[in-house]
Amino acid sequence: MSWQAIDRKSAPADEGPGLSDAVKEKIRAFFPRYETKRAVMLPALHVAQEAIGYISVRAMKDIAELLELPPSAVMDVVTFYTHYWTHPRGEKVLMVCRSLSCQLMGADKLQHAIETKLGIKDHETTPDGKFSFMTEECLAACDHAPCLMVNERMHKRVTPEQLDKLLADADSDKLPMPRSDLYDAPHGEKPARGH
Ligand code: FES
Repeated sequence: MSWQAIDRKSAPADEGPGLSDAVKEKIRAFFPRYETKRAVMLPALHVAQEAIGYISVRAMKDIAELLELPPSAVMDVVTFYTHYWTHPRGEKVLMVCRSLSCQLMGADKLQHAIETKLGIKDHETTPDGKFSFMTEECLAACDHAPCLMVNERMHKRVTPEQLDKLLADADSDKLPMPRSDLYDAPHGEKPARGH
């Protein structure tokens, strides 16, 4: 099956961390680029997630206040996209493609190897906060199936036998090219990983 619904896990009982003044300022800096504050929703969520590691309930409320929207409008968007997390992510997020080409070329075996090795399932994080795992629709490199992304870095034609080496590689998520820091957290803010 090339599509499946994900149980995104329910939000934690406490509201989690809110946004710092620096993060709010970074979000406000997007306002002049768009005709409405609502249009800043996706950049705001990216910045928030980079700052605190996920989108907490408190962060959703802070963003709603900044964009002058009801909190439910923010939660609507957060829960629509798989790349926004409502609970903490690991330092590295492993994304296995679950679309047709990758499935035909063994992505399910790769998924099984990751789940077995790390002891976690889709959208879960290891207890040490180092790794999270998720499946994702086509990663746009079908001719190199099966594909796996580690954070923003694509790995092609990945086999279960390569998994140990990949997990041990500290640079497995490093892009071999300059990257945009447009949506990164303000300088000095570190995500609260794995809590
Ligand atoms: S089907 Fe996996 S990258 Fe397209």
